[in-house]
Amino acid sequence: MWSLKLSSLLAAAATIPLLSTATPLAPKHAVARRDGVIAPKFVIVSMFAPEAEVWWGIDEFDLLAQNITVPGLSPLFPEVHCTADGEICQVITGESEINAASTISAFVLSPKFDLTKSYFMVAGIAGVNPEVATTGSVTFARYAVQVALQYEFDYRDLPDNFTTGYIPFNTDNPADYPGEAYGTEVFEVNQALRDIAFDFASTAVLNDSETAQIYRAKYASDALYTAGSQGPSVVACDVATSDVYYSGTLLSEAFENTTRIWTNGTGVYCTTAQEDNASLEAILRADKANLTDYSRVIVMRTASDFDRPPPGVSQIQNLLYAHQGGFSPAIANIYLAGVKVVQGILDGWDTLFEQGITPNNYVGDIFATLGGTPDFGKEDFLITKKRDLAAAEEQQGNLRMRRALQSAKRQAAAAEALGLEY
Ligand SMILES: *[C@@H]1O[C@H](CO)[C@@H](O)[C@H](O)[C@H]1NC(C)=O
Ligand SMILES: *[C@@H]1O[C@H](CO)[C@@H](O)[C@H](O)[C@H]1NC(C)=O
Ligand SMILES: *[C@@H]1O[C@H](CO)[C@@H](O)[C@H](O)[C@H]1NC(C)=O
Ligand SMILES: *[C@@H]1O[C@H](CO)[C@@H](O)[C@H](O)[C@H]1NC(C)=O
Ligand SMILES: *[C@@H]1O[C@H](CO)[C@@H](O)[C@H](O)[C@H]1NC(C)=O
Ligand SMILES: *[C@@H]1O[C@H](CO)[C@@H](O)[C@H](O)[C@H]1NC(C)=O
Ligand SMILES: *[C@@H]1O[C@H](CO)[C@@H](O)[C@H](O)[C@H]1NC(C)=O
Repeated sequence: MWSLKLSSLLAAAATIPLLSTATPLAPKHAVARRDGVIAPKFVIVSMFAPEAEVWWGIDEFDLLAQNITVPGLSPLFPEVHCTADGEICQVITGESEINAASTISAFVLSPKFDLTKSYFMVAGIAGVNPEVATTGSVTFARYAVQVALQYEFDYRDLPDNFTTGYIPFNTDNPADYPGEAYGTEVFEVNQALRDIAFDFASTAVLNDSETAQIYRAKYASDALYTAGSQGPSVVACDVATSDVYYSGTLLSEAFENTTRIWTNGTGVYCTTAQEDNASLEAILRADKANLTDYSRVIVMRTASDFDRPPPGVSQIQNLLYAHQGGFSPAIANIYLAGVKVVQGILDGWDTLFEQGITPNNYVGDIFATLGGTPDFGKEDFLITKKRDLAAAEEQQGNLRMRRALQSAKRQAAAAEALGLEY
């Protein structure tokens, strides 16, 4: 039964057109296992209590059978929860980028776990772009973009020809490609795995609420927001990460632009949340040390509220006062869709998932920390490439722009220390 389903999924995955010519990463078969520790096949990454608790007391498995204290976790969520057999675990990061990065770093470095073959699924709620999806929808990202990693002016302090107050580092125009990268701006995850997770989740019957139906109907009068006005579904589209809980049409459109530009035209911004790039960075660094397999990451976000209002509702009303009705269905759908992904991967463990899903796209960050050739970013961002410091030296700018140059020099030194051509 299952293998029939699986072969159709694989056939479907094989026919997906390659969107990039990037070199795929080699699958990680050779990673060393650590003995005498919990080696989960699946790790659910929740960010705060409602996202975590929806997985507790369910029929399929009991995550509260083992609570494992891990130094470095959030004081609010100090334990990793696991099933009795250790096959499924849950880590709760706490909200925003700092909590996500710190928690996931502590988890992946903990000697209590062997995560070399673990699938990680970020499973949280998010704001949603009504051009692409609606409240209650379940989205699976290929790209995660840290959109607020830019200069920011209050819009009112800028000349009239600026469309937003956000300007990429080392540029003077919001539409420019960033001149400098810190490394966490863009992450790309395994698209073949993303598509398999998408198909598993598509078998779920999604939850919805009457309040959500009433609010989303308001988007129907603008053709641009057709997706926002329709019922919840499973959607493949990308996630923005920002500590700032931004809201409103102009900022949302600005970050839509950022996502498109920074992913070199491939990324489609549909959800906004506060953690994903941070979690991804920690998992990626651990992969570099052979402690995790970054090609086993899934980013699932369910939509709880719209990032911009429907026609006839003010910007501030949409965020602060309107009853959008999306929160409860979004929380419910984390479990309803997510459990299909957990079960699909565990059921197919021996036949497919233990060995891993070979990516057919570039998988990694903007530095190419794990090797391969990104289909986004600039050549001189790569950790392996000589950086054009002379040109940067010439650049006009103030203290912080010069600080960015220092960061470029540090990166060059790191490449040199790794014995790479510089
Ligand atoms: C694990 O923690 C949860 C609450 O965080 C609790 O309900 C559960 O009983 C604990 N499990 C064990 C085995 O102590
Ligand atoms: C975060 O990671 C995603 C990939 O999952 C990437 O597309 C995105 O550009 C990254 N940056 C930010 C700002 O979130
Ligand atoms: C705004 O106009 C000034 C003056 O023409 C020009 O130098 C600058 O590049 C423009 N900026 C943007 C973001 O269009
Ligand atoms: C959604 O979940 C709520 C709470 O469990 C339930 O009352 C409601 O009937 C569900 N609605 C749908 C459409 O599934
Ligand atoms: C987004 O980019 C388009 C051009 O592609 C531009 O017309 C629009 O003003 C930008 N939006 C914002 C808010 O910057
Ligand atoms: C990770 O594994 C690869 C391939 O097995 C090996 O070449 C590399 O030295 C390992 N790196 C670390 C930090 O152990
Ligand atoms: C992405 O776009 C920038 C700006 O146009 C360009 O410099 C860079 O080479 C592009 N990267 C890839 C991988 O095509």
